Amino acid sequence: MATSSASVNLEDVPSVDLMSELLRRMKCSSKPDKRLILVGPPGSGKGTQSPIIKDDYCLCHLATGDMLRAAVAAKTPLGVKAKEAMDKGELVSDDLVVGIIDEALKKPSCQKGFILDGFPRTVVQAQKLDEMLEKKGAKVDKVLNFAIDDAILEERITGRWIHPSSGRTYHTKFAPPKVLGVDDVTGEPLIQRKDDTATVLKSRLEAFHKQTEPVIDYYSKKGIVANLHAEKPPKEVTTEVQKVLSS
Ligand code: AP5
Repeated sequence: MATSSASVNLEDVPSVDLMSELLRRMKCSSKPDKRLILVGPPGSGKGTQSPIIKDDYCLCHLATGDMLRAAVAAKTPLGVKAKEAMDKGELVSDDLVVGIIDEALKKPSCQKGFILDGFPRTVVQAQKLDEMLEKKGAKVDKVLNFAIDDAILEERITGRWIHPSSGRTYHTKFAPPKVLGVDDVTGEPLIQRKDDTATVLKSRLEAFHKQTEPVIDYYSKKGIVANLHAEKPPKEVTTEVQKVLSS
């Protein structure tokens, strides 16, 4: 049901899909609006927890890494500009990512709030986000800091497998698919990300410590950072997230 009603004849949509969308919207109408940021180093579990929070609170999930990879795959002008930095594990320019977030926040699915996964990654991006929200009379409610020791991340990153079209993530050890290399739901092949190597991870971690950790300080001063124990197993991290978001 991702397509807008302007381009879909609702009479052609199966009743079961219409009903489940209706039920989803009814459930969502009682949920509070939330504007969340997920920050943490590569492999800390942001992408694993995001779909759970998204469903619990009916928010849109905007992952700048996924958006940029889609642009690279489609060879759009944005993708061509972003590819070199991404392959090297460096950050792409603030202007490019601020532009894609500004555009994405206008989507109707972001009406009840959003989860920003991988954005903002620099203080400049955080300031621009504040400006964007101020214009709408809104502000960030909570920043979830996926705190974790660097030493744990190499195993998580090099063992990750992804189903590209759905974004479902697996791990050879921590979250294996039923059949090795194959998506549980569609049976389609899984892939590994080009930047998920031990060598590129070093640059990604360097960028995180140098450019993104100051973002955590920026939001700490506003008193909205919640620190998570991201080294715990996924279900325990989910419980921590739920506790933070219900308080
Ligand atoms: P991006 O795609 O955002 O990558 P990232 O931040 O490096 O984060 P990851 O997706 O690698 O990690 P994750 O925290 O989502 O981990 P996951 O849940 O999958 O960015 C890629 C690139 O795009 C950047 O390098 C940059 O070039 C560019 N970019 C993006 N945004 C930008 C911005 N704002 N500005 C500038 N440039 C930008 O988990 C990892 C693995 O561990 C999985 O296999 C999972 O199954 C497993 N796992 C997860 N949780 C646990 C757990 N608790 N215990 C055990 N295993 C776990």
